Amino acid sequence: MDFRNTLEFSQQLDREDPLSSYRDEFICPLINGKRAIYFTGNSLGLQPKRTQEYVNEVMNDWAGLAVEGHFKAEKAWWDYHERLAEPLSAVVGALPEEITVMNTLTVNLHLLMVSFYRPEGKRFKILCEEKAFPSDQYMLNSQVRFHGYDPEEAIVEVAKREGEHHWRTEDVIQKIEELGDELALVLIGGVNYYNGQVFDMEEITRAGKRAGAFVGWDLAHAAGNVLLKLHDWDVDFAAWCSYKYMNSGPGNVSGVYIHKRYHGMKDIPRFEGWWGTRKESRFLMEPEFEPMPNAEAWQLSNAPILSVAPYLASLTLFEEVGMERLRAKSTILTAYLEFIMKEVARDVKGNFEIITPKERGCQLSVFLHGEGKQVFHELMNRGVITDWREPNVIRLAPTPFYNSFEEMYRFGELLKNILAE
Ligand SMILES: Cc1ncc(COP(=O)(O)O)c(C=O)c1O
Repeated sequence: MDFRNTLEFSQQLDREDPLSSYRDEFICPLINGKRAIYFTGNSLGLQPKRTQEYVNEVMNDWAGLAVEGHFKAEKAWWDYHERLAEPLSAVVGALPEEITVMNTLTVNLHLLMVSFYRPEGKRFKILCEEKAFPSDQYMLNSQVRFHGYDPEEAIVEVAKREGEHHWRTEDVIQKIEELGDELALVLIGGVNYYNGQVFDMEEITRAGKRAGAFVGWDLAHAAGNVLLKLHDWDVDFAAWCSYKYMNSGPGNVSGVYIHKRYHGMKDIPRFEGWWGTRKESRFLMEPEFEPMPNAEAWQLSNAPILSVAPYLASLTLFEEVGMERLRAKSTILTAYLEFIMKEVARDVKGNFEIITPKERGCQLSVFLHGEGKQVFHELMNRGVITDWREPNVIRLAPTPFYNSFEEMYRFGELLKNILAE
């Protein structure tokens, strides 16, 4: 598309946007009395207006029914979480039975490692990306130590090439092939939190499996952002948080995918709890664990309904819109922002560079040369909420549900003024 850096053009794009009405479905903070330009849906998604209703329903059921709410609430609590499997499976490209919702992301990755990191003999190494999200690094290190290995030896990181800002798929594949039968697990962030790169999850999964390893993905920055086909790609397991692009609220529950082939197994290594045992016999309180025939076998505790309710509310939006349409808008919105940034760079003579490669979701990571942090603070003063990552990067994530094309244009004007000052 031929973009233009004018208010009229941006407004024209908004008029043509079939998803423009969804902007009103969300509550956006005000800065200086005006709606902020919110670029941090990659960190914490905005609150959908309908969330309140879902939470109130639970509060009212709790008040009116107390313990009876487990079975008598209209959305009974004992199987409340099951309602999320179907809509979530559509978001991540899985079968509904491969999905469950529980705990939080790092907790789930640990639990999944119990099942999918099974070091034995020479096959004990884990491949990940260099500078993975810190929680993932701590998780991997502690898992490796737990199994009695030295992280220095067991964890192999794929590096970016000298002078480049992104990873190359061929370098990841080559590392996998080099490790061969020493490789126990590939676990990478599907969309990198820092540079916004989308890894070629299909290719990498294939290569990992060819090497005889398990392959899992941390989809914190991918779920609800890019198109995923976890089942078709034959991914073994994945987990994601729900508070970023999935708009479920701060620190909220995590989604989990476990490939169907591992369902119904009694002998798979797994930490177990009563919510993972078959629901038909769960309340007979018998000592034998009979796994649920689906991903729910990994559930431990009864579900935190007040957390799951906002996630269900948000998923109704995804159901209405569908990932294809969301992604279609996202692609144009981010391309427009990139175009605007290039216009600004030309006008203020290149004070920054976009380090996000073309394989991306909605996020653009911008490396600011010089007084970056001042720019970040000044943007905030003028009503633009971005986020800062050391040493000098701001991340901009225009999200298709609630960012408009006009905001991209207005952001460009603000940035140009700030840099010119
Ligand atoms: C890529 C990635 N992995 C893991 C986490 C940790 O998530 P949690 O605090 O929900 O465990 C985050 C949080 O932002 C993340 O971005």
